[in-house]
Amino acid sequence: MFTQDTIERFKELETPFYYYDTEVLRSTLNACRDASSKYGFHVHYAMKANFNPAVVDAIQSYGFGADCVSGGEVRYAIEHGFDKSKVVFAGVGKSDKEINEALDAAIFCFNVESVQELEIINELAAARGKVAGVAIRINPNVDAHTHHFITTGLDENKFGVNTWQLNDVVAALRKSANLKFLGIHFHIGSQITDMEVYKSLCIRINEMQDWFEDHGFQIKVLNTGGGLGVDYHNPDSNGIADFESYFAVFKKFLNVKPGQEVHFELGRAMVAQCASLISRVLYVKMGQKKNFLVLDAGMTELIRPMLYQAYHQIENLSRTTGAEDQETNSHLHYDVVGPICESTDCFRKDVELPVSQRGDLIAVRTAGAYGEVMASNYNLRERAPSVYA
Ligand code: LLP
Repeated sequence: MFTQDTIERFKELETPFYYYDTEVLRSTLNACRDASSKYGFHVHYAMKANFNPAVVDAIQSYGFGADCVSGGEVRYAIEHGFDKSKVVFAGVGKSDKEINEALDAAIFCFNVESVQELEIINELAAARGKVAGVAIRINPNVDAHTHHFITTGLDENKFGVNTWQLNDVVAALRKSANLKFLGIHFHIGSQITDMEVYKSLCIRINEMQDWFEDHGFQIKVLNTGGGLGVDYHNPDSNGIADFESYFAVFKKFLNVKPGQEVHFELGRAMVAQCASLISRVLYVKMGQKKNFLVLDAGMTELIRPMLYQAYHQIENLSRTTGAEDQETNSHLHYDVVGPICESTDCFRKDVELPVSQRGDLIAVRTAGAYGEVMASNYNLRERAPSVYA
């Protein structure tokens, strides 16, 4: 919900822009910290979800660690004050340059995705006289029941080591003097709201840690990955991720042994609800079959609807919103589209909205995760700026 004062402020600003509500961010981070610290769990923020400096600095100030997937993210996390002992480096294709930089930065752990990668990290660490902390990312073949583009834990996905390759992994670990085995890592997908999925993951993790221990490897870190979803249909406070239920599942079903640490890599759940994309209606095109609202924002600012058919709530802030909307406004159905020269540049078809006019302010909600970070300059468009509450 936007206050009238906020909407008045928007009227003075050029659109499009990302609007970050720092209060929503803080209440989300408080909820995450309270629910995880109850069980002594460690949360690493998945930097890929949003690297807006104000957002990252707020997250760092809570003492969370950083989950990075490129040399750029590792550097950025360290520059933004994340404790190196809480920086992990994941990703299926780490380049030699990125590995060397992370070795020099003495980060906590590499989440390793193949036998060949283990051998290369060992070689590069040896050449620098260093020892690299490693966790093995295992593909657990657990179905996340989420959109297939953001499922990662099935045999058909490119991520992690499949269970039938684990003998080769332990053989490689045994002969790698410059690797320190820390534990096992999993990540099965994103926007997961069904807690049963996490229960299945816990069962697989328990099996896997037994397997490693049977082969003589002690596990210090159980990294369960991320993926906790949010409610895109409720962008206000009741749509914040259900951290309580999420961590409780791991507390209940994960077999945590004395001295072990449990790590989580949450991205979306921590930042999705703190931002909206604010744009204006450029043109209203009334047709016989369709009405279009052509916005000044499109797939260059928020590509999720176009890439994953993702739902984002759309609100006309220039008309009465919320509970009074239905009473006050007459409505029409519109396809809400962007200005980009692509037919897929559509936020959603057949959206029921108050009758809208050129210049109306439109909010596309829940844009904090995988929004600004996935922006592009396609069509030589300028990057949209950020505005803070
Ligand atoms: N850990 C690993 C190894 C990951 O690959 C990811 C996300 C995360 C943690 C954080 O996942 P989260 O908690 O945010 O679900 N662009 C897509 C989502 C891609 C997720 C990529 N990996 C979207 O907009 O839905």
